[in-house]
Amino acid sequence: MSNHSTMLPIITIDGPSGSGKGTISQQVADALGLHILDSGALYRLVALSVLQKNISPICADNEAEIYQLAEKLDAAFLTTDEGEVKILLEDKDVTQAIRAEECGKTASQVATLKTVRKALLTRQRNFLQTPGLVADGRDMGTIVFPDAKLKIFLTASTEIRGKRRLNQLKEQGINANLHGLIRDIEERDTRDMQRKDAPLVPAADAITIDTSKLSIDEVVALVLKAYKKAYL
Ligand code: DC
Repeated sequence: MSNHSTMLPIITIDGPSGSGKGTISQQVADALGLHILDSGALYRLVALSVLQKNISPICADNEAEIYQLAEKLDAAFLTTDEGEVKILLEDKDVTQAIRAEECGKTASQVATLKTVRKALLTRQRNFLQTPGLVADGRDMGTIVFPDAKLKIFLTASTEIRGKRRLNQLKEQGINANLHGLIRDIEERDTRDMQRKDAPLVPAADAITIDTSKLSIDEVVALVLKAYKKAYL
């Protein structure tokens, strides 16, 4: 990272799926007027390309092809006048499509590939622009922005995370089974935590917040308080 970029404020917010990272990151970025990086969306975009091209993400022979997809990923993140983020893949709006369970599972699988992580590294670092960045993911504090002065790691029990996901799906009119969702979350956690490259772990200097019993507002307030201490 350049000297210029390391001078800008960066808040890394890492944690497992369903820990509240997305919502908390967005609200913190809005409150502070900072840019946002949804790094999971990048892995999901690679996953969507893989699914569209019918490439098996778990066959080692396909790694070179998946790497090429990640390297050449034609993606754009646009903010609408209403402040919503629209995600485009090859000029097509895939904002909803990348949130499908299958895409999340495939994202977790392609994320185990070292070459894919390498292909996305510079792209992620390029999100750091004036006035600063909130970076949401799994390895933001450990690998992508190791110099960030504020690193947050969010956790929550699998039960709570399953319930949150169930509610999200209900809001979209999708029926799901809580036990199935919890099983999928546990499977994804295991893969994300046990992979060799950039596993999901808190950075040594991260502040861990268990969001199980906290409201969104309470977590945002804790992060903003920590931001003031780190940067102001
Ligand atoms: O945060 P998410 O559910 O959108 O992420 C989808 C998958 O992408 C996640 O299971 C693992 C992978 N991922 C990653 O390996 N590193 C990141 N920084 C972000 C996501």
